[in-house]
Amino acid sequence: VKRVRTRHFAQAKRDGHKISGLTAYDAASAKVFDQAGIDFVLIGDSAANVMLGYDTTLPIKVDELITMSRSVVRAVERAFVIADLPFGSYEVSPEQALETSIRFMKESEAHAVKLEGGVRVESHIRRITESGIPVCAHIGFTPQSEHNLGGHIIQGRGDGAEQLLEDARAIERAGAFMVVLEMVPSDVAARVTEELSIPTISVGAGPHCDGQLTVWTDTFGYGQGRRPKFVRQYADLAGVLRDATKQYIDDIQSGAYPSEAESYENTHPDGKSPFG
Ligand code: KIV
Ligand code: NA
Repeated sequence: VKRVRTRHFAQAKRDGHKISGLTAYDAASAKVFDQAGIDFVLIGDSAANVMLGYDTTLPIKVDELITMSRSVVRAVERAFVIADLPFGSYEVSPEQALETSIRFMKESEAHAVKLEGGVRVESHIRRITESGIPVCAHIGFTPQSEHNLGGHIIQGRGDGAEQLLEDARAIERAGAFMVVLEMVPSDVAARVTEELSIPTISVGAGPHCDGQLTVWTDTFGYGQGRRPKFVRQYADLAGVLRDATKQYIDDIQSGAYPSEAESYENTHPDGKSPFG
């Protein structure tokens, strides 16, 4: 299988071929997405909510995300693997951003890192990319600043569009290979996509971006939280798993599971019973 590389994302934008992405937090799910042909997987800090049960993305640690990233890297053969830099691990300085990125690259062997912000992290992005590590940026609604933004609020409406464009330009200037636009009106996302030469990836930013990304547990109905409007639910995995679990419990209680065929006989290798 040929590995997806950053140049393939650039090529996809030029060709008008849409890029597909999903989050992944472990080997089992990542392997399935890879087998299905997903272009990239993101070990998002949304793992804080989805996997660890926190209310925000803020508490998750670098070490926790590195462990998850490593499991995803080991599972995929084709997909490009992007690891999120968690809150507090890059904002302080370009040096801190580079040091954390190096940890992710060495310890998880992810193929790129992702961080939140535009103009305010331009020098951070530049420092990381100049060291040879591909960076995916993330603007619009940025969950790590949700307390400052005042909740899950659409970004880039009205006068906000100009600021979003400024952020997008800064990201491209700094050398990022791709940018995520989260919860941005589709016409604004279309303008950013038009103006930038690097691909834009929509998370609730409409159909005009160069690709789409969602939190996999939302899209496949495995998460239990509120499902945002931009998420189309392609499966009800929680329902499937709940029904299967009920059946499993019923079968244990009734004695239907396990059967003799699902148990081991005590025989010698030559087929003779040890009890004669
Ligand atoms: O953490 C995450 O899952 C993300 C995407 C939704 C953009 O950052
Ligand atoms: Na994230």
